[in-house]
Amino acid sequence: MRLLAVLSLVSGLASAQLTFPNEPDSFFFPSLQNANTTELFPMPKCGNFTLQEATIDQMQAAMANGSLTSTQLVLCYLERAWQTQEYINSILEFNPDAISIAQARDQERKQNKTRGPLHGIPFIVKDNIASKDKMETTAGSWALVGSIVPRDAHVVAQLRQAGAVLFGKATLSEWADMRSNNYSEGYSGRGGQCRSAYNLTTNPGGSSSGSAVAVAANVIAFALGTETDGSVINPAERNSIVGIKPTVGLTSRAGVIPESEHQDSVGVFGRTVRDAVYALDAIYGVDQRDNYTSAQQGHTPSKGYVQFLSKKNALKNATFGLPWQSFWQYADAEQQEQLLELINLIKSAGATIINNTEITNYETLVSPDGWNWDYGSTRGFANESEYTYIKVDFYNNINKYLSELTNTNIKTIQDLVDYNFDNDGTEGGNPWPLGIPAFYSGQDGFLASLATNGTYNETYFQALHFCQTQTRQGINDALNHNGTKLSGLLVPPDVGQSYEIAAEAGYPVITVPGGVRSTSGMPFGLAIMQTAWAEPELIKWASAIEDLQQTSNTLRKRVLPKWRGYLERNIPVPFSD
Ligand SMILES: *[C@@H]1O[C@H](CO)[C@@H](O)[C@H](O)[C@H]1NC(C)=O
Ligand SMILES: *[C@@H]1O[C@H](CO)[C@@H](O)[C@H](O)[C@H]1NC(C)=O
Ligand SMILES: *[C@@H]1O[C@H](CO)[C@@H](O)[C@H](O)[C@H]1NC(C)=O
Ligand SMILES: *[C@@H]1O[C@H](CO)[C@@H](O)[C@H](O)[C@H]1NC(C)=O
Ligand SMILES: *[C@@H]1O[C@H](CO)[C@@H](O)[C@H](O)[C@H]1NC(C)=O
Ligand SMILES: *[C@@H]1O[C@H](CO)[C@@H](O)[C@H](O)[C@H]1NC(C)=O
Ligand SMILES: *[C@@H]1O[C@H](CO)[C@@H](O)[C@H](O)[C@H]1NC(C)=O
Ligand SMILES: *[C@@H]1O[C@H](CO)[C@@H](O)[C@H](O)[C@H]1NC(C)=O
Ligand SMILES: *[C@@H]1O[C@H](CO)[C@@H](O)[C@H](O)[C@H]1NC(C)=O
Ligand SMILES: *[C@@H]1O[C@H](CO)[C@@H](O)[C@H](O)[C@H]1NC(C)=O
Ligand SMILES: *[C@@H]1O[C@H](CO)[C@@H](O)[C@H](O)[C@H]1NC(C)=O
Ligand SMILES: *[C@@H]1O[C@H](CO)[C@@H](O)[C@H](O)[C@H]1NC(C)=O
Repeated sequence: MRLLAVLSLVSGLASAQLTFPNEPDSFFFPSLQNANTTELFPMPKCGNFTLQEATIDQMQAAMANGSLTSTQLVLCYLERAWQTQEYINSILEFNPDAISIAQARDQERKQNKTRGPLHGIPFIVKDNIASKDKMETTAGSWALVGSIVPRDAHVVAQLRQAGAVLFGKATLSEWADMRSNNYSEGYSGRGGQCRSAYNLTTNPGGSSSGSAVAVAANVIAFALGTETDGSVINPAERNSIVGIKPTVGLTSRAGVIPESEHQDSVGVFGRTVRDAVYALDAIYGVDQRDNYTSAQQGHTPSKGYVQFLSKKNALKNATFGLPWQSFWQYADAEQQEQLLELINLIKSAGATIINNTEITNYETLVSPDGWNWDYGSTRGFANESEYTYIKVDFYNNINKYLSELTNTNIKTIQDLVDYNFDNDGTEGGNPWPLGIPAFYSGQDGFLASLATNGTYNETYFQALHFCQTQTRQGINDALNHNGTKLSGLLVPPDVGQSYEIAAEAGYPVITVPGGVRSTSGMPFGLAIMQTAWAEPELIKWASAIEDLQQTSNTLRKRVLPKWRGYLERNIPVPFSD
């Protein structure tokens, strides 16, 4: 078998002492008889170490006593990727240097030098986050293949410094969903269709699809993604993992293929809050190449966010608001029921819950018909619409990003548009059927951005001002309920309007696993919203809720994937459940 030959070649090269599974049939093919009790594609052990669902602390403990190495971790995650790739396609590109980086970290450990909690831990980044190495950085588009980035993205450099091992690039929705308004979530020309391991036939969440799917399916320890409006929180909550979308300006966007400087934020994915916070601790900070990061000064802890991790007893001090009319009313009955069961558990742990804590002016700000980043225009006011300034920002921000690349003819958004028209079969420049079903509407998003000429006119400034001030005021008001300062707003993140309001405000969100739909098997989360720089609150309460879930007899917690529909390969995936 060719794959096994590759496996032994790699393990030979790395001269790692690894026991690969000796039952290839059960390894590569689903064990149907166990479908209800165990994962359909069970993850092999990593030597003697149970890597499936292992926390970063557990990996560190095993590496510390010499029973596991970083090199073994890389090989075991490679094995897991090969096992799952043709089903979920979470990895876009493997880092040819991953094994040698891991060996270097193992060498350091032998010298008693460990850099911190991420020393030797493999991770992936969304393909719109630059790495200056043997890998490409393309946002999933063929157009940028071969281009050379000036340097690692700041967040990648920080993670290398922290000792983490860059394993590869994650699949994504191409151009982080900027290019099209009717498209297949998780699809890119270069990466193909990413699929959720919970149900392969439906929307895996996006645009950081592969980042979340890989963490959920134990293909990697943790991952980075990016969010402009939902692209971290949405795939995290749809894959039963933890996602943190930080305040805009907490994590540098330098070296990240942009969408909008006003809303882009690099976020983190982990199977536990602690794992996600380790990643956040490594990447946050001031970076001279992204001046938005200077705003964090005076608002960040000097010793990282790990100190805010809490146990369930902390919930005795918590008072949460439920913005019912603003968001909860749009959650379907099953989600309301399961999430309220979790909220009742939180209440029984001592927290106070206040219903009807609303976003001021939600009647105007929140679309009643689902996520819609052009809702201002839908209401007849382009000068109150998020999409109005995102289109202009993209024009200018992408041109600036492209200007720093070498070895490419793609210099402007116009070049991208031309490239897509010239390559309809792979990049769907024209709407389907001239283009491809994954990009039904072609590149209407790019064309809309191009049509603005990037002009910062009065409409742009009005829209930016309206969206920022209204959403910030609205969230802040809800957090100060009748004089009581709330610990946070509990929201159903599957209602996309919740993270949309936070996105416009530039405010942070965290999501933890909340429940599972009975129909599709797709998970959904419970999220907490807060004001700018309130990550300590989000981390404190989310970790307390997670502790409560893990120590309670509740079904409302993280679940393993069931690989529903694993024989189907529909494109596009539907947007509905
Ligand atoms: C899984 O559980 C369902 C419902 O309990 C049952 O109908 C089905 O036969 C079970 N499948 C397997 C493979 O055990
Ligand atoms: C697993 O543990 C056993 C007993 O401690 C040891 O002999 C063996 O070498 C270990 N195997 C690996 C692959 O580490
Ligand atoms: C090493 O640490 C791992 C993880 O804590 C543990 O499972 C294992 O038993 C330990 N092995 C030895 C030899 O101490
Ligand atoms: C690392 O620490 C251990 C235990 O303290 C010690 O025995 C060993 O000599 C140290 N190794 C190096 C290379 O310093
Ligand atoms: C960042 O710098 C640009 C250009 O120098 C400036 O226009 C912008 O206002 C600055 N933004 C922040 C948040 O400081
Ligand atoms: C509740 O908050 C008070 C004041 O901040 C603090 O002293 C106390 O330790 C907290 N209790 C719990 C259970 O966290
Ligand atoms: C919150 O209030 C709304 C009415 O505004 C009600 O329909 C809903 O059931 C309440 N939710 C909870 C959890 O009490
Ligand atoms: C997307 O395009 C397809 C094919 O033209 C169409 O059937 C579908 O309704 C469109 N969806 C939206 C949300 O416009
Ligand atoms: C500003 O530019 C947009 C296109 O980006 C255009 O639709 C709008 O009419 C312009 N507004 C003014 C006041 O010129
Ligand atoms: C953009 O530039 C083109 C060509 O100069 C012009 O025809 C068009 O009106 C401009 N669009 C806007 C929104 O300014
Ligand atoms: C607000 O607080 C006042 C004074 O404590 C109280 O009388 C009133 O009922 C509260 N209103 C709400 C909506 O909770
Ligand atoms: C997967 O999800 C889709 C969309 O909700 C649903 O129609 C389908 O039945 C699900 N597949 C399985 C095997 O449950």
